Amino acid sequence: MEFADVVRRRRMVRNYRPDPVPTEVVTRILDLARRGPSAGFTQGQSFVVVTDPDRRRAIADLADEPSYVAAGFDPWISRAPVHVVICTSEEAYHRRYREPDKLGPEGELEWPVPYWWVDAGAALMLVLLAAVDEGLAAGFLGVHTVPGLRDLLAIPDEWHPIGVVTLGYPAPDRRSGSLARGRRAFEETVSWERWSGPEPEGDEHQTDRPDDEHPGEGEGEELPEPRDEG
Ligand SMILES: Cc1cc2nc3c(=O)[nH]c(=O)nc-3n(C[C@H](O)[C@H](O)[C@H](O)COP(=O)(O)O)c2cc1C
Repeated sequence: MEFADVVRRRRMVRNYRPDPVPTEVVTRILDLARRGPSAGFTQGQSFVVVTDPDRRRAIADLADEPSYVAAGFDPWISRAPVHVVICTSEEAYHRRYREPDKLGPEGELEWPVPYWWVDAGAALMLVLLAAVDEGLAAGFLGVHTVPGLRDLLAIPDEWHPIGVVTLGYPAPDRRSGSLARGRRAFEETVSWERWSGPEPEGDEHQTDRPDDEHPGEGEGEELPEPRDEG
């Protein structure tokens, strides 16, 4: 699939068919996900793949799936045949940036931005895009209880789960109400040369066609969203 198509087709899918996803497909997705950029090449992200139905149910319970269902969504979390829990280690970055090639005269970098979260987001995006490229659909839910997820999956204290990616073959789903906000216009989102710079001349920088990313309701078979905190 063309890269631009992968990006445009990606959207959070919140319902899945029960069909299992072959292990080699999941492996390919995560092999790409570990190739994301990372500050100092720290590679401070790890992934926990969960396919066991009881464990998926427990993850869904920790995320209070019944509240999603009560809000009119499908039990998408427990239904997704594969969960990928993305974890990041702040400590790994501190260790890396205390190595001689990174250590400045003042000691460890004054972190302008917590790169462990930045890199985790990059890894998340790779999982989501790789899933689309494999003909799968993916969703993402934030962590409701870090200690709960740590206990359930034996995640060491150093590793912080940033959320759960659900993977599977898409089923018709209900879209998130957040989408009604609409996508910010290109011109509002991007400035040139300086913040809120003048608009470029010509028409080569057009906004996305309106329905590229979120085709109309009822098209759940297309790569196809319950809680709107995202
Ligand atoms: C950091 C983050 C947290 C999110 N948390 C949730 C969540 O807990 N539940 C959910 O249904 N969607 C969640 N989303 C998905 C967003 O609602 C979704 O990305 C947004 O509405 C745009 O839709 P799209 O991804 O389909 O383009 C999250 C997204 C991000 C990036």
